[in-house]
Amino acid sequence: MLNKINIIITEVENAIASSKEQVEEYRIKWLSKKGSIKSLFDEFKDVPNELKKDVGQQLNLLQNKAQEKINSLKELFDNEAGAEIDGKIDLSLPNYPTLINGSRHPLSIVKNQIIDIFSRIGFTVSDGKEIENDWYNFSALNTPENHPARDMQDTFYVSLNPEMVLRTQTSSVQVHIMEDQALPIRTISPGRVYRNEAVSARAHCQFHQVEGLYIDEKVSFADLKQTLLYFAKEMFGEKTKIRLRPSYFPFTEPSAEMDISCTICKGKGCNICKQTGWVEILGCGMVDPQVLINCGIDENKYKGFAFGMGIERITMLKYQINDLRLFFENDIRFLKQFTSA
Ligand code: DAH
Repeated sequence: MLNKINIIITEVENAIASSKEQVEEYRIKWLSKKGSIKSLFDEFKDVPNELKKDVGQQLNLLQNKAQEKINSLKELFDNEAGAEIDGKIDLSLPNYPTLINGSRHPLSIVKNQIIDIFSRIGFTVSDGKEIENDWYNFSALNTPENHPARDMQDTFYVSLNPEMVLRTQTSSVQVHIMEDQALPIRTISPGRVYRNEAVSARAHCQFHQVEGLYIDEKVSFADLKQTLLYFAKEMFGEKTKIRLRPSYFPFTEPSAEMDISCTICKGKGCNICKQTGWVEILGCGMVDPQVLINCGIDENKYKGFAFGMGIERITMLKYQINDLRLFFENDIRFLKQFTSA
């Protein structure tokens, strides 16, 4: 008996209908006086007493499920019939199926915030290419072939053409801008970059950066520091402190890495900042005069600063996300937690 009930439960659960008539056929088959469920109820009196409780429960479940199914299928076709009255559409009917609003991807939210922050102090936004030739990604940026600094970034070469790469850094856009645009220059360029890295919680073969470039006649390291301090406070809050540590990049001299005071523990020490109270967020420096020369700019008249940051890193710090892979999996449970204007 239980077996028979379960077979009909499966039938009910899987039933679909393409017309009102078919729904009626289901109703007659399951729920009418001669229907299968009615005859199971008739058989119920012969079930041994010790099984009556279980079988009874299952039989009631079946009857409820069949009734619900008929109701929901009926509703489908009732709505359809009501949608048109004398050839006119009934606009008072509820939307079907209900449309769910999407939300912006967290990386887009943070990218837009970064653009907003720099726009307020006069930076324009420049676009670049994701497939670059060797000159723009490396050589013009003081990283000729065989330069050891090429090992800092594992590169994807575009097949058959060793000259063409998937850009490893948005710094490539700097070169195009310096070659093409009138001076002074004050711009940021957000975009996707690629590196041949094993995918893990902390690294990915694709990620996003924002590059910044400022070239004018009297640009100093103090301007760089002040610009980045303004950015850090706007992005992470008024109380945020910054710290610049000497570093090395082939296209800046001097070069630095910038840390911000840990937003999680407020400098006391936690896992995110590895108990130091500081977290690194970007690389920066004064544009190396040789790079200005490479791009046809008078290195005696002009100076500049540049910086580059990872959007994933900033987003992870802002929202306390601990696995980089989440950004690329498109899991709706993750994405729907982010809202923006
Ligand atoms: N391109 C560097 C990287 O991907 C980041 C960077 C460092 C950009 C210093 C800059 C800079 O513009 O000045 O690691």
